[in-house]
Amino acid sequence: MKAEREEDVVEQLISDFDHHHPRFDPDLACLVHRGIRNRSRVAFSRAYGGVWVLSHYRDVEAALRDHETFSSASGVFFPRAAGTPPFAPLEYDPPRQTAFRTLMKPPFTPARARQLEPELRRLVADLVEPIVARGCGDLVAELAVPLPLAVVSLAVGFTDAAQRRIRDLTSNTWARMPSDESAEGFWPQFAELFQEEIRRAREQPGDDYLSTLVRETIDGRPVTDEELHVMMVGFAVAGHETSMNALSHLLWQLAREPGLQDRLSKRPELMPAAVEETLRLWTPVDHGTRFTTRDVEVGGVVIPRGSRVILLAGAANRDPAEFPDPERFRLDRGLVRHLGFGTGVHFCIGAQLARTEFLVVLRELARHPGYELFGEPRRFYENGRHICFDRLPVRFRAQLGHRR
Ligand code: HEM
Repeated sequence: MKAEREEDVVEQLISDFDHHHPRFDPDLACLVHRGIRNRSRVAFSRAYGGVWVLSHYRDVEAALRDHETFSSASGVFFPRAAGTPPFAPLEYDPPRQTAFRTLMKPPFTPARARQLEPELRRLVADLVEPIVARGCGDLVAELAVPLPLAVVSLAVGFTDAAQRRIRDLTSNTWARMPSDESAEGFWPQFAELFQEEIRRAREQPGDDYLSTLVRETIDGRPVTDEELHVMMVGFAVAGHETSMNALSHLLWQLAREPGLQDRLSKRPELMPAAVEETLRLWTPVDHGTRFTTRDVEVGGVVIPRGSRVILLAGAANRDPAEFPDPERFRLDRGLVRHLGFGTGVHFCIGAQLARTEFLVVLRELARHPGYELFGEPRRFYENGRHICFDRLPVRFRAQLGHRR
């Protein structure tokens, strides 16, 4: 059978957006996003029985801020194997979402991120130094995958054994959730792992956050195991996957933008802007989804009550109406407005921790010679929503000597 031409696939996806289309990949997605954004403020796709798509910055931002109209309580991941539990707090609306969020916030406050910083520096140095000493390595396998998991585990209190299993379980979940009929192939393994962590926290409490969480209350009664599970899947999945992908993009951007490594090394005050610009230009969580709780008008189009709406954050973050020169990586954009961490009541709980983690990585890298790409990585959608790297082979430029 003759393969479809790329421009035909792009055209097809602009007309009928489908994030699980077999040809959907991050480069193609850029063209599709642009096409949808240029065509109109509101798009409708016939995929999955009909979904609405918003791609303009002002509309995506407004929808994320209006959780009463755009609810996430019917699930943000679709299609979805029957029996997949909701991820807390994302797949709940207030006041339930607020109750979960209140319990889940303590390990991620700015003060806690500051407190964890020395430990983060040690973790990062332990991962980076062997690669630099060897002169080459894979920054995905050796840094972007292990670091976020280690950091979330440190913040939350997952044991080393749990940490080792979470990555595999997460990949298995994303691979099966959109296609399996039931959650039997992935959820029981997660549930078993979380049950072990809960048992450990109850029977041998330490000074970690999980040991406190298992003793918390919701609505004046003790938190149930089921509630603990949906919160733990929130930590495990939301926390490491997203950071892993964002960090991969940051490390990739450093290699592909000439002079960026030297610039950051000479002017470390630009490092926060480099982190934010990575999240804007290479939005690792490409979209969110919501259900409308009432008829709502956007740009003259009425989206009926009970509709599924895809909020294309990746397209919004490159909307020229909000970000001049949107396709360029720039460090002079000023105030952070991108939607890489979402916004509104579901704004990312881990944003401060992730930012701190990435700054620690940038500072550590600035202590060493620069690096360059040594082979092309492949970027792909893991679940139609998160953009991953298969690898990031790099070579350190030893001849430059240490910069400082
Ligand atoms: C750079 C790394 C990260 C990115 C890009 C990211 C992205 C996001 C986005 C876009 C949302 C909003 C989703 C929506 O509204 O549909 C979100 C929410 C969330 N993130 Fe992150 N995240 C990151 C790191 C983390 C970390 C380290 C954690 C820690 C466990 C975390 C935990 C959460 C949780 C629990 C929510 C749901 C909040 C709520 O519903 O109230 N994230 N994240």
